[in-house]
Amino acid sequence: MRTDTGQVINLADYRPTDFVLERVDLTFDLDPTETKVEARLIFHRREGADPKAPLVLDGDELSLSGLLFDQMEMPAEQYTATADSLAVYNLPAADPFELTISTIINPQANTQLMGLYRTSGIYCTQCEAEGFRRITYFPDRPDVLAPYTVNIIADKAANPLLLSNGNFLGGAGYGEGKHFAAWFDPHPKPSYLFALVAGDLGVIEDTFTTMSGREVALKIYVEHGKEPRAAYAMDALKRSMKWDEEAFGREYDLDIFMIVAVSDFNMGAMENKGLNIFNDKYVLADPETATDADYANIEAIIAHEYFHNWTGNRITCRDWFQLCLKEGLTVYRDHEFSSDQRSRPVKRIAEVRHLKSEQFPEDAGPLAHPVRPTKYREINNFYTTTVYEKGSEVTRMIATLLGNVTFKKGMDIYFDRHDGQAVTIEDFVKCFEDASGRDLAQFSLWYHQAGTPLVTASGSYDATAKTFSLSLEQMVPATPGQTDKKPMHIPLSLALFGENGGKIEPASVEGAEYTGEVLHLIGRTQTAVFHGIGSRPVVSINRSFSAPINLHLDQSPADLALLARHETDHFARWQALTDLALPNLLKAARDAREGKAIACEQTSIDALLHAAADESLEPAFRAQALALPSESDISRELGSNNDPDAIHAGRQAVMKQIADRGIAIFTGLFEKMTTPGDFSPDAKSAGRRALRNAALTYLSYVENGPARAKAAFDAANNMTERLHALTVLAHRFPESDEAITALSTFRDHFAENALVIDKWFSVQATIPGASALNRVRKLMESPLFKRTNPNRVRALVGTFAFTNPTGFGRADGEGYRFLAREILDIDQRNPQLAARILTSMRSWRSLEPVRAGLARAALTEIERAPALSTDVRDIVERTLK
Ligand code: ARG
Ligand code: ZN
Repeated sequence: MRTDTGQVINLADYRPTDFVLERVDLTFDLDPTETKVEARLIFHRREGADPKAPLVLDGDELSLSGLLFDQMEMPAEQYTATADSLAVYNLPAADPFELTISTIINPQANTQLMGLYRTSGIYCTQCEAEGFRRITYFPDRPDVLAPYTVNIIADKAANPLLLSNGNFLGGAGYGEGKHFAAWFDPHPKPSYLFALVAGDLGVIEDTFTTMSGREVALKIYVEHGKEPRAAYAMDALKRSMKWDEEAFGREYDLDIFMIVAVSDFNMGAMENKGLNIFNDKYVLADPETATDADYANIEAIIAHEYFHNWTGNRITCRDWFQLCLKEGLTVYRDHEFSSDQRSRPVKRIAEVRHLKSEQFPEDAGPLAHPVRPTKYREINNFYTTTVYEKGSEVTRMIATLLGNVTFKKGMDIYFDRHDGQAVTIEDFVKCFEDASGRDLAQFSLWYHQAGTPLVTASGSYDATAKTFSLSLEQMVPATPGQTDKKPMHIPLSLALFGENGGKIEPASVEGAEYTGEVLHLIGRTQTAVFHGIGSRPVVSINRSFSAPINLHLDQSPADLALLARHETDHFARWQALTDLALPNLLKAARDAREGKAIACEQTSIDALLHAAADESLEPAFRAQALALPSESDISRELGSNNDPDAIHAGRQAVMKQIADRGIAIFTGLFEKMTTPGDFSPDAKSAGRRALRNAALTYLSYVENGPARAKAAFDAANNMTERLHALTVLAHRFPESDEAITALSTFRDHFAENALVIDKWFSVQATIPGASALNRVRKLMESPLFKRTNPNRVRALVGTFAFTNPTGFGRADGEGYRFLAREILDIDQRNPQLAARILTSMRSWRSLEPVRAGLARAALTEIERAPALSTDVRDIVERTLK
């Protein structure tokens, strides 16, 4: 492991390289423990660069085994090589020259899963962000682009498959049971998009004909025997390719597109040019083993990685500070894709739920950073929900501000102007300024100011003047390193509704730009006056979640109930239902803490039940309406001095009251929302299952809980219902015979399927209450637990820390201490994984004082440990600061 050097990288220090890389020619002689890598690199000195400057290449745990200059051995005094850099001196002032660099690496010993490593006998790579420098010395930064030729030599029997980026050039035998293959990628790319795969895998194949009539071969490689489980991924890939042509005019640009699924992978997937590598969790699915959420994730991630071909690969980032240039934009594109393939409002609800539960806490805690940061110590720690999800929201706001037509025009300018380049956020924003003629300087603060803006709104109606005045005030909270914030340009989608539920169109609006139902909030305070309003309106603000903000607006339960029934934007209906439920949950948490009886306000329960029973609404929406804000949503709203046990107890009591009142509705839904016939993962069927599952959850609070859930578990013919029934059993009745039997049946039935066993671990990791920790500890001793498999570690340790507030946050602090020890252990093998799981501590300051003290002690224990990785040191120090 490379331990921390404490070095901070600053955006302000960016400068182009002194040398231009013209071509890359790589040869790999693969061996599990001694892979020989030869890199032939052709450079020339950049015009205007210092004629004496040495060429300094990046390395990471490398050792140099040979260095040639124009095919001749390089004299020792002309270079210095260390494990993390190679500097070469006295290079030509203008002429191109060739360096041939030899290194020997050990893929088998690479437990960090960065660079070239082995998983289940397969060689594979992960180079983003800085993994390529673990393969060879290289200018390993995204603004160095070149065409690559890759030659792979390997034992033929063990590695019938030899893959790399681009198009296949040819292959042949290579003596001694070896063979080789050559690939050429004509599209200049940065090293982080390099990929190599070798091994023995099964494949499913298809073709796609592009809009200009070119046929592209599509291949998805999976472990032998798992081929049928890749069918849905292939379908999603073809739909993605078609959608990108239709929605953005983007055509694929190689003869072949390949996806390889591997079981040990640090993240979701990686967009390497022409050769995406995926965590197999986001490729493999069948009705027996995958939930509807799994299918939706596969569709979204296949699309995401494919869309990177244009937003990321053809146009890449100048430096890693610009990460949101490709990630925020590509998440926006995959969200749009899924919205078009499924139900737009339901998709939007899911996006906002995710944003609020993951990104809002990040933005409100010690790890807050701007969408476009200005400094980092470890770039791997910036693959965050802020860069991805908030980055997507910022892109979405550009579309909202400009309207879709102008937004698309800006995207066309972007693709035209910057194809083949490595660019910045400023370059991106300029395209939209040029397309619209609008000045986006104030808007750009969304990239630069961290923290979730708080907008406080209050309305008043003047019946004689027939005006409705809306006063708005914005405040961007202080975040680490940023205390004084400027007011932002906030697009608020807004509409007014009359007492009968019909929309009221104002005759004119004064005090704020209001176009296309979007109000532009630009001042710190601003009052918009709507004229020609004949009766008191009910205002709906931030419809479709047009801006990622917190909104404070006092609305009566009756007004919210009206919006919940009549808003034409179904996202806003869901928001109204949530706004109705939330005060009850907050009050319940406070009452539970003081040992008081918990009583819910009826309007909110009735509105919820009304939506649940409303057959004019799609089932998926009704399921979202029934899914109350989570315990972490509640603690975020409470803000400080949080007691997870009280929040849990309060929420449970509210659930019980809703269940008691809605028993007939829930019984009816549970019986009716079946999906007979052959399983189909389509959104409509998934919606029915979601609603049926929601009903089962509430029914567990009334009568026959364990028996009913067990019957549902036994009768389930798909994973969505089976897993949900299992979750209800385990979470609600963990000690019951039904739960114990179901858990062991499930384990025995699916013991061979790693992805299902991950679910089995996760269900148990999230059982509420203090006893969860002992269960987690026992599970870690299980022969099914594999410390070296990131999915398994995330499923058990990660899920416990991130999503079990009462178990992980138990009052005696044992959960925090447990995590500290696990982090130190994981860090030895896989720093990225350790650092990621450690971010589960990011909200520790909002806990009540006793827990906060215990959490701080655990963090301090990590901080004081010797030999931390840069990844973990960076997170722990920022978290404690
Ligand atoms: N670019 C990949 C994606 O599509 C993720 C890479 C994550 N890399 C990392 N070092 N964490 O989102
Ligand atoms: Zn991405």
